[in-house]
Amino acid sequence: MKLTVFRHEREAAAVLADRIAAEVAANPALVLGLATGRTPVPLYQRLVDLYRRRGIDFSRVTTFNLDEFWGLGPDHPGSYRAYMQRHLFAHVNIDPARVHFLNGLAPDAERECARYERAIAEAGGIDLQVLGIGGNGHIGFNEPAGALNARTHLAVLKPQTRRANASFFGNDASRVPADALSMGMATILQSRTVVLVAMGRGKRRAVERMVHGPLTTRVPASFLQLHPQVEVLLDEAAAESVTLSALSVTAANP
Ligand code: PGA
Repeated sequence: MKLTVFRHEREAAAVLADRIAAEVAANPALVLGLATGRTPVPLYQRLVDLYRRRGIDFSRVTTFNLDEFWGLGPDHPGSYRAYMQRHLFAHVNIDPARVHFLNGLAPDAERECARYERAIAEAGGIDLQVLGIGGNGHIGFNEPAGALNARTHLAVLKPQTRRANASFFGNDASRVPADALSMGMATILQSRTVVLVAMGRGKRRAVERMVHGPLTTRVPASFLQLHPQVEVLLDEAAAESVTLSALSVTAANP
């Protein structure tokens, strides 16, 4: 894993947005894997800003989001599809036909997951997957457990994860759906490059276990150690428990 520590989340977002812009310029048909949550909000703001100032052309870019709440349609304001629309898609020239999402209202979860896996394969796989990490070490909705589903699946959410999502549901965790569709760790590990962003003290322990810990289904992020091309963008608080000397860590602003 290549770790970079930034002073402020804005700086990490700017570096990642520039990187995505450069990759889209080099390969206009880039396949991006995208994440939701609080962490990527500055990244999407910066991408919208770059689109306005420099005209990054998203028209041939394909996207796949990691996950979606089960039982919510794209028009529900708490859905991740609506989040993506608000934060990125409504503001850039992305082709809606190239935006891929798990359908939280699909009649059959298993078939919907199989459809998603096929769509990713048909797109040629994900070139660059953006990830956040849960304070409990989850990735997407791959929650800590005794066993994990490798591929895209219907997941039961932990109370901690429902609480973390409550702001989208009137700060009432009981209104957060109890289940979600999520890419599995094997799906995520097939991406060519993974960039994980973790900011703040609440992610410190999860980052430590992701980077240094044993591979364990109790910390789904630990499986990222198996991937040859993982970049981790941290702030100082999230990086606090990482043994800097043991890793390839660079300070973005020495
Ligand atoms: P956050 O969520 O960006 O809102 O902290 C990250 C995650 O739970 O994966």
